[in-house]
Amino acid sequence: MKKNLFIISALFTGAMNMAAVNITSPNGVLLLNVDVDSNGTPVYSLDYKGKQLISNSRLGIKADETAFTDGFRIEGIDTVTIDRTWEPVWGEYATVRDHFKELAVRLKADNPDRNLTLRFRVFDDGLGFRYELPVQKGPNYLTVKDELTEFNYTGDHKLYCIPGDYDTDEYLWSETTFTDLPQALKSYGRHTEAQRVDGVTIQTPMLLKTADGVYVNMHEAALDGYPAMLLDVDPASYSMKSHLVPDRLGVSAYLQMPFNTPWRTLIVSDDARDILASQLVLNLNEPCAIEDTSWIKPMKFMGVWWEMFTGNEKTWAYSDDYLAKPGVTDYSKLKPNGRHPANTENVKKYIDFAAKHGIDGVLVEGWNEGWEDWASYRKNRQFLFDKPYPDFDLLALRDYAKEKGVKLIMHHETAANAADYELQLDRAFQFMKDNNYDAVKTGYVGAIIPRSEHHTSQWMVDHVRHVIERAAEYEIMVDSHEAPRPTGLCRTYPNWVAQESARGGEFESFGGNPPSHICMLPFTRLKGGPMDYTPGLFETKLSYYGEGKDSQAGTTLARQLALYLTMPSPLQMACDLPENYDRFLDAFQFIKDVPVDWKDSRYLEAEPNRYITVARLDKNSDDWYVGAITDDNARTAVIDLSFLPKGEKYEATIYEDAPDAHWKDNPQAYRIRTVQVKPGQKLRQQLAPGGGAAIKITKKN
Ligand code: NOJ
Ligand code: CA
Repeated sequence: MKKNLFIISALFTGAMNMAAVNITSPNGVLLLNVDVDSNGTPVYSLDYKGKQLISNSRLGIKADETAFTDGFRIEGIDTVTIDRTWEPVWGEYATVRDHFKELAVRLKADNPDRNLTLRFRVFDDGLGFRYELPVQKGPNYLTVKDELTEFNYTGDHKLYCIPGDYDTDEYLWSETTFTDLPQALKSYGRHTEAQRVDGVTIQTPMLLKTADGVYVNMHEAALDGYPAMLLDVDPASYSMKSHLVPDRLGVSAYLQMPFNTPWRTLIVSDDARDILASQLVLNLNEPCAIEDTSWIKPMKFMGVWWEMFTGNEKTWAYSDDYLAKPGVTDYSKLKPNGRHPANTENVKKYIDFAAKHGIDGVLVEGWNEGWEDWASYRKNRQFLFDKPYPDFDLLALRDYAKEKGVKLIMHHETAANAADYELQLDRAFQFMKDNNYDAVKTGYVGAIIPRSEHHTSQWMVDHVRHVIERAAEYEIMVDSHEAPRPTGLCRTYPNWVAQESARGGEFESFGGNPPSHICMLPFTRLKGGPMDYTPGLFETKLSYYGEGKDSQAGTTLARQLALYLTMPSPLQMACDLPENYDRFLDAFQFIKDVPVDWKDSRYLEAEPNRYITVARLDKNSDDWYVGAITDDNARTAVIDLSFLPKGEKYEATIYEDAPDAHWKDNPQAYRIRTVQVKPGQKLRQQLAPGGGAAIKITKKN
């Protein structure tokens, strides 16, 4: 990898006991003010284009041992401007610009003696700041109960958010306001295995829109060694305050100094497309920590997976004997239930299909001992990650896949027994390497073990980080489900190729995702990193998982193709069953063609919860791809082809909704047509309600 070049265009170090300080973004649109109030509490405010976006908001951290909340004076400041670029191993852009002005405010308090540095980075598209706790004269170990970071907004803005929860983010989005938020939160149900927060609390990433049309994405970057942040909202004063996820003892973080918190991030623009294009969260993460990244390979995969969701009573478990105990029971003596798709013959069918169509990998869920006990998630559930079921001939499949040029993808469902997973981890990863597996999908369904923890508490943040680091040592790529929401750590560990951490495509079979849902995720969840959303659903009539009820997916078929563009990920599933793809092979061609790694991306049209149109340039060719989606309203996307280099002729293959298509009653009506297009031309593309379009544009010789 190329070394990072950076330019330091100004360096300033201020003197003792200063008054308020301010700094602008490189282009001047954002103005940050930092001061201490009469209690010596640090405060900041933020203006966008000359108008106050955030009024004076307090900062601080409270621990049992001491509080970093008041009595401070500004001892000095350091400022610097950085303009550099870096090259991600994979992503939406081949090169990312990291351009910001930085302000470090060194705070000092006496009685008791405390030191705290606030580091702010102001980019053209937003702000990041964090707390830096140097080694202190006083206590150097902290038991953190609260972080006092405030975000005081200046109006009753529109909020796009999901409820605060310590354990899950698999929710649908509310479009509400500060005032109406309490009511909106009441409409959400509660997950049995998850802990919803009772207050007026929401999660990040979330999005906000002011009456002036300014969009703000709020999240955090580089969440490491600290719990995830939720936001407590005061609907009356339009203010928010950080709410750190605690463990069940009520402690949020156990820290040892020196310690830097994650960055609190605000992506700000009056153009919704900039929110989607922003690389701010990645920029605030540390550079790649893996020296040789040649083994990290973006890929598409299928899975022995969806069969278990489509209501046909197929199971992950081999047997119906729920008393079976992994490692204790002789599984070869158990009575097979006959509904277990992770068997040798069926897996071969998937390998054959993948090989025939150039799909790189096949995931197999339900291959290993432990699923019989799945239902007892409140007990000591355990899976063994090196013990295949008797009908899964791992060695034969390993050889078969290799011969066919297909990679098998490992599955580690831990049922949230993270403690046990750590004990098995090395054995499990070695087992993968011995058997030609390069990638693993992990899962944490249920209440976390150790029972003192939540999915997003500090312990789990550390656990997942440990898994990723260990995986990197074994040269293993990871796709984690039910893990803390991503915060851009995939820049540092690009083997962390995807996460779920939101309500994914699987919910199409649990009652459906409304069409607007995926017009929201790129504005929120995706700012932290790619999602394993599992696109490519062609059969949209489904059955409510486990209950035999009908479920209609909130999508047309053509729109499923567009998702490969609007939900970019270096690990992209083709989620449906081979027999469903065989019914629509002409549409499946797009899934075969579409890349999963990009040289460049252009967001052409965007409005949260409504529509997104994006064009992307393949990393490895000159082909452009366009994806457009809408909510449940029909829409004409206007695709400005100015991104195409001039002086060439182009051909566009358009996969679109048929004129009478509708997500609800005519989702499989699509057309494929080829047209000649010119740079600068404006293509008017019709999208059905809940529909979309996917376009491949190639140069014509
Ligand atoms: C939930 C995951 O999201 C899903 O993809 C997986 O199949 C099940 N857990 C079982 O591990
Ligand atoms: Ca899940």
